[in-house]
Amino acid sequence: MNADARHATLAQLYPDHLRTLTARADAALDDSGFDRLLIASGRLRYAFHDDNPLPFKVNPSFKAWLPLSDLTDSWLVYEPGRRPKVIYCQPADYWHLPPSPPQGYWTAHVDVVVVRTPEEAARHLPAAERSAIIGEPEWALGDHVPNNPALVIGRLAYARAAKTAYELEAMRMASRRAVRGHRAAEQAFREGRSERAIHEAYLHATGHSDLDLPYGNIVALNEHAAVLHYQHQRHDLPDAHRSFLIDAGAQAIGYASDITRTHGNGDATFQALVDGVERVQQALCDRVRPGVDYRDIHLAAHLGLAEVLRDLGVVRMDAGRMVETGVSATFFPHGIGHLLGLQVHDVAGFAAGPDGGSIDRPAGHPFLRLTRVLEADFVVTIEPGLYFIPMLLDGLRARPEAAGVDWTLVEHLSRFGGVRIEDNVRAVAGAGPENLSRDAFAEA
Ligand code: GLY
Ligand code: MN
Ligand code: MN
Repeated sequence: MNADARHATLAQLYPDHLRTLTARADAALDDSGFDRLLIASGRLRYAFHDDNPLPFKVNPSFKAWLPLSDLTDSWLVYEPGRRPKVIYCQPADYWHLPPSPPQGYWTAHVDVVVVRTPEEAARHLPAAERSAIIGEPEWALGDHVPNNPALVIGRLAYARAAKTAYELEAMRMASRRAVRGHRAAEQAFREGRSERAIHEAYLHATGHSDLDLPYGNIVALNEHAAVLHYQHQRHDLPDAHRSFLIDAGAQAIGYASDITRTHGNGDATFQALVDGVERVQQALCDRVRPGVDYRDIHLAAHLGLAEVLRDLGVVRMDAGRMVETGVSATFFPHGIGHLLGLQVHDVAGFAAGPDGGSIDRPAGHPFLRLTRVLEADFVVTIEPGLYFIPMLLDGLRARPEAAGVDWTLVEHLSRFGGVRIEDNVRAVAGAGPENLSRDAFAEA
């Protein structure tokens, strides 16, 4: 399918998406006693004592309704029984390029009012009284002060975990886009380039700028792969290209992908580690099905990764015991993944139900970001990893379990940093999972 056909698909799916959102909003407003929903797109912010704007991040609740991620000072108005209305701010500004006039598939399904200033937008907003107003406090316009009712936000966030057909299509697009970057990045690694040059190859292939990325790319050579959210991209060359971990996504109409790959460069032991993590990762992806408790996937990851450590001889200990004693957490110190969508770590990962309450993480697993039972069309990441993190290894060295560790092998593998492999996976009703990332790699 080419880009035009994909755009046509989005256009076809948008009316149903809008129907789902209005039905969710109807229920949320009805249950909480509000008459309407007013969602601010957001305002530009400025650095302290400076006239340079900070990068604009649109209100995620706004981009849920509209494929407009760059639009400031605008509003979505929804009153049950009426068409959604978009107050579209197109400033008269010759210092900057204003947004284009409203155009695209969404315009046929909403009422649009074009305004030039935030104050003019305020005149088109319905009464603030009995309105659920979603936004930052500083986006207030007169008496339209964001109140962010917890009941409304909680209900909408809870429902958002299940993606509409439109959202799934957007997320497939985001995966394909990221995969173009991943392939270019791997090639740049094979050519012996710097982290910075690899990152630039990624951006070039995706057509994204740094600011378009759903999160800062993690581009890690060698030991840097042991830093879970390694935030630099060095422009100098390392002594060698032993390993390469890249955790990088892309966006399509405001929806994210979040993909990690780890590449070796000829060391058989490290490659066995990569292959072991990959086998575990694929088995975990297969568990992404409606009715499955995501916490069980996380716990299964610990067991599977402990088996990899045992099989490679890194730790001579029963896998179950490695999990019980926390040894597996030394090498796998993060959660197995999270909800994905409008935000890379999407909201409501702990929500017990539409009306509130939360589901605890399993004891001893403080970084898991999703504890819900999966439902059809949830999209989650599955991202197991094994790392050699000096700080955590120092902790293990001081414990009795240190006796079971092959420290010579740990020292060897430490030079590669670690391994993470991450796919974006959809739970499908009555069928096996859809792996958006693998499908995109297969298609590329
Ligand atoms: N890229 C951040 C994460 O994988 O959660
Ligand atoms: Mn990631
Ligand atoms: Mn992730």
